[in-house]
Amino acid sequence: MTKPTKATITFDNDAKPIELPVLSGTLGNDVIDIRTLGKHGVFTYDPGFMSTAACQSSITFIDGEKGQLLYRGYPIEQLAEHCNFLEVSYLLMHGELPNTAQRIEFTKTIVNHTMLHDQLSNIFRGFRRDAHPMAVMIGVVGSLSAFYFDAMDVYNPQHRVISAHRLLAKIPTIAAWSYKYNLGQPFMQPKNSLNYAENFMYMMFAVPCEEYTPNPVLARAFEKILILHADHEQNASTSTVRLVGSSGANPFASVAAGIASLWGPAHGGANEATLKMLEEIGDVSRIGQFIKRAKDKSDSFRLMGFGHRVYRSMDPRAAIMQKTCYEVLNELGLHDDSIFKLAMELEKIALEDEYFVSRKLYPNVDFYSGIVMRAMGIPYSMFTAIFALARTAGWIAQWDEMNADPEHKIGRPRQLYTGEARREFVPIEKRT
Ligand code: CMC
Repeated sequence: MTKPTKATITFDNDAKPIELPVLSGTLGNDVIDIRTLGKHGVFTYDPGFMSTAACQSSITFIDGEKGQLLYRGYPIEQLAEHCNFLEVSYLLMHGELPNTAQRIEFTKTIVNHTMLHDQLSNIFRGFRRDAHPMAVMIGVVGSLSAFYFDAMDVYNPQHRVISAHRLLAKIPTIAAWSYKYNLGQPFMQPKNSLNYAENFMYMMFAVPCEEYTPNPVLARAFEKILILHADHEQNASTSTVRLVGSSGANPFASVAAGIASLWGPAHGGANEATLKMLEEIGDVSRIGQFIKRAKDKSDSFRLMGFGHRVYRSMDPRAAIMQKTCYEVLNELGLHDDSIFKLAMELEKIALEDEYFVSRKLYPNVDFYSGIVMRAMGIPYSMFTAIFALARTAGWIAQWDEMNADPEHKIGRPRQLYTGEARREFVPIEKRT
């Protein structure tokens, strides 16, 4: 069958049919270009963007049926196996993998910007000690616009690159300090002889009075977590970054909004929620009652780490993370980890259950990433902060792509209004 180039909307009254162009991308579904529809006096209705493409993008592609994830055309499995996180960040930002000279140059640029302005430490100190790291990150990333405002002209490509580099370089320091502040330990300055993943582990786990050498197996596992979470098409937080940025808002404000969106348990907060759920289940014998609750429509409980808006088969990131889980648990001698065993059993039961099978609800990346991070000694409250650290690479690439797109407009959805029609003001003494 040849691809359609036009679609026609017909109405069940005598209104004239409307002809609309059909656009095709490189991969994925065709889209009906409805931009001119408003001129005909109708809008489309699509809460949750179930069927709406909000932008053109050449960064990431997901085939939900096949369980395929591509960054700039490269399968995630190959990137996770062969690349480091900064190479993947470069790929997302620039569209191509760096050659040797580009990789050296890019790494040097990022490494040279890992420190925070000294006064930023005062911003951390304004928070309660028990503040959630995500709350601190939203505040501190937003406040970068009060420190690095010399290159915030979003219409200047060079300024956008400088801000993107600053965000990518400083986000590990911000995430690690959010944790150190919780603990009451001194902030560790970045150590630029370490690679990106090792440096984050150093800033999280080291203390000034002791030597700290990151374990290479754990550092590589951490790097994989970063690569797997680096971008994921037009998800809620990325769309938030684009929507906020569409008004010309600066990159730090836009990314802070993305972090806020990511925090929700239906999105990036699912890794923390998964671990809490596994602990609440506690024992294999109790899995049945939690599965029953997940299926009960009168109960708001959902099996965290299961399901995805786009994937209708196994999340490819989950498959990689499951393998990494074994590697990390073996390295740490935790083969008998009770939470991991529980997770494996839960996955097995859910994958055989008619409710989950018929709805194509498979484990997603968050189901395993939390287990890996817990084994590495990372506290639950940092799980989503680490997701935010990784996703910053995707957010800045998507934000830059939007600003460079000549078709980009301020995001302004329409609505189906269901409130009162026009009515006259009633003075208070006449109100019933
Ligand atoms: N447990 C139980 N039922 C579920 C679950 C779940 N985790 N996920 C979806 N369903 C059911 C849902 O109740 C609905 O059933 P029915 O058709 O009978 O009404 C059906 O499956 C379709 O679900 P939906 O809510 O319409 O799907 P969605 O695309 O709007 O939501 C989701 C996707 C990820 C928000 C959802 O699957 C969910 O809440 N999962 C748990 C949270 C989670 O793990 N999130 C991490 C996503 S991956 C990381 C990331 O990219 O952020």
